[in-house]
Amino acid sequence: MEFHISTKKINQITADCEIILVSNKNLKHKWIKDLKDLNTLDFQGNEEEVVFLPHQHRVYAGCKELNHDNIRLAVSGALKAIKKTKYKSIKIGSYCANKKQTNISAIVEGFVLGSYIFDMYKSKKDKNSIKNITISTENYGRLKVEGKELRKELNFAKIVANATNFSKDIANQAPDDMTPVAMAKLGKKLSAEIENVTCFAGSEKFLEKEKMGAFLAVSRASEHAPRLIHLKYKPKNAKKKITFVGKGLTYDSGGLSLKPGSAMTTMKSDKSGGAAVMGILKAAAELKLPFEIHAIIGATENMIGGNAYKPDDVLVARNGKTIEVKNTDAEGRLVLADCLSYAQDLKPDYIFDLATLTGACVVALGEYTSGIMGHDKSLKRSMENAAEKSGELSSPLPFNRYLAKLLKSSVADISNISSSRYGGAITAALFLDNFIEEENKDKWLHLDIAGPAYVESDWGYNQAGASGAGVRMSLYWLQELKNRI
Ligand code: BES
Ligand code: ZN
Ligand code: ZN
Repeated sequence: MEFHISTKKINQITADCEIILVSNKNLKHKWIKDLKDLNTLDFQGNEEEVVFLPHQHRVYAGCKELNHDNIRLAVSGALKAIKKTKYKSIKIGSYCANKKQTNISAIVEGFVLGSYIFDMYKSKKDKNSIKNITISTENYGRLKVEGKELRKELNFAKIVANATNFSKDIANQAPDDMTPVAMAKLGKKLSAEIENVTCFAGSEKFLEKEKMGAFLAVSRASEHAPRLIHLKYKPKNAKKKITFVGKGLTYDSGGLSLKPGSAMTTMKSDKSGGAAVMGILKAAAELKLPFEIHAIIGATENMIGGNAYKPDDVLVARNGKTIEVKNTDAEGRLVLADCLSYAQDLKPDYIFDLATLTGACVVALGEYTSGIMGHDKSLKRSMENAAEKSGELSSPLPFNRYLAKLLKSSVADISNISSSRYGGAITAALFLDNFIEEENKDKWLHLDIAGPAYVESDWGYNQAGASGAGVRMSLYWLQELKNRI
C-alpha cells in the first residue's frame, strides 16, 4: 500500500473508489453525493455502520466524531466492505479536527492495521488489490491543512502501523516455526536491513556466563535452545538511552505445573512482548529517533521433561537473589528477572518491560486493555496518555506494601508466586520490582499485555489473533519524548 498526499480537491482526484466518513450522522455534508441511496438503504452514519455503493464506487462509513480512534475504526470498516473488490486505488479527504490533531495518522493506521491478514499457513491466500491511497488536503471542516505537516505524520503512521503488523506476524507464527533461534535470526535480519541497528544473540553458554540461573531453569526442558536477543539502535548524538525488555516465551506449556489443555492453546502468543520490543526497535530506527534504544528479548520455551525445573527448586538469579519456585507456570517473571538485571547494566534513562505476564491482568481489565505498573506516577501517566493517543487501551494498576509482602518465601529471598490468589497482575509486577535496582525504580514501567496481545476474535480494527499490543503506545511515547526534549 502506497500513500500519497495531494493538494488537489477531492473531486479532482481520480481513483477507483472513494471513502467518505460520515461524522456526527451529518448526511448534509458537501462530500455526501448519494443521499437518496443512503436513505433508501436506511444508512444513518452510526458508529461501525458501513455502506458500499458499487455502481458509484463509493463507501460511506459512520464515524461518531472526528477523533482519531473513531477514524481508525471507520476507515478499517470501509476497507472491510471493499476487500473482495478489485479496486487498486482509493481516495479520501482529510479529517483534521484542529491544527494539533490532523488525524492523518489515524487514517493511515486504519488502512494499514485494518488490512492485515495472517495467511502464512493458508494454501489459498486472499490478495489485497489496493495499491494506492490518495489523501486530499481538502478538509472536512473549514480548517486549512498543510501538505508538509501531513507528509511528516504520514511517515510516522506508516512506520508505526507496519511495525505493529510486523509484531503480529511474529506472535501469530506457530511455536515450532518461531522458535527462540528463529526469533534471533529475525533480529539479525533487522540489523542487516536497517541502518545503525546491531543484533547480538546469546546462547545457553552466554546465559551461563551471565549467571542467569532463573532464565536457564525455565529453558532447561526445551528441545529448542534459548536465546537472549539484544538488538541495539544507536544513532549519532543520541539524547537518551532507553531499554525495552520483552518476554519471548515461544511456547508456554506451564512446565511441570502444566496448563490444562484449553489454557495451553494460544500460548504461542506468549512471545508477544518480545515481538513487540522487536517491532518498537525496528520502527524507532526507521523513524531515526534521536535515542539509543535497546531491545532485549528473553526467548525460550517453558516445557516438561526429566530435566525440567520443578516446584520446590531454588534458583539463583543474575543479581544474586534466590527464588523459590512454587509454580513453574509463573515462568515469565523468572526470564524477565534476569533480562531486567542485564538491561540495567546498560545504565538506561528508562526501562520498559512488555510481557504477557498474567491471566490475572486479563481478569482485572478485560481482554482489550494493558496494565501499566511502576513506581513513578508521572511516568505511568505519560504512558497512559501515549496509549490513548495511539488507540491502545491501558489502565494503571497500583502497587501497595501489603501485596509486596505476599511474595515472601520461607526458604529463599523470594517466592515466584504470591501466597494469595488475588491481585496477581500486581504481585507479578512486584516480583519484577525485586530485580530493579534502587536507582532505577522511577525509570521503570512494566506493561502487562496479556489481554490485548492475542484475542481470539476480531475487535475494532484488530483481527482475531495477535494485535501487536504495546508497539503503538511505546512508539507514541517515544515520539512524545522527542517533542519534549
Ligand atoms: N503466559 C502466562 C500468562 C497468560 C495467561 C498470558 C493468559 C496470556 C493469557 C503466564 O506465564 C502464566 O501462566 N501466569 C500464571 C501465573 C500464576 C501461576 C501465578 C497465570 O496467570 O495463571
Ligand atoms: Zn506460564
Ligand atoms: Zn507465560
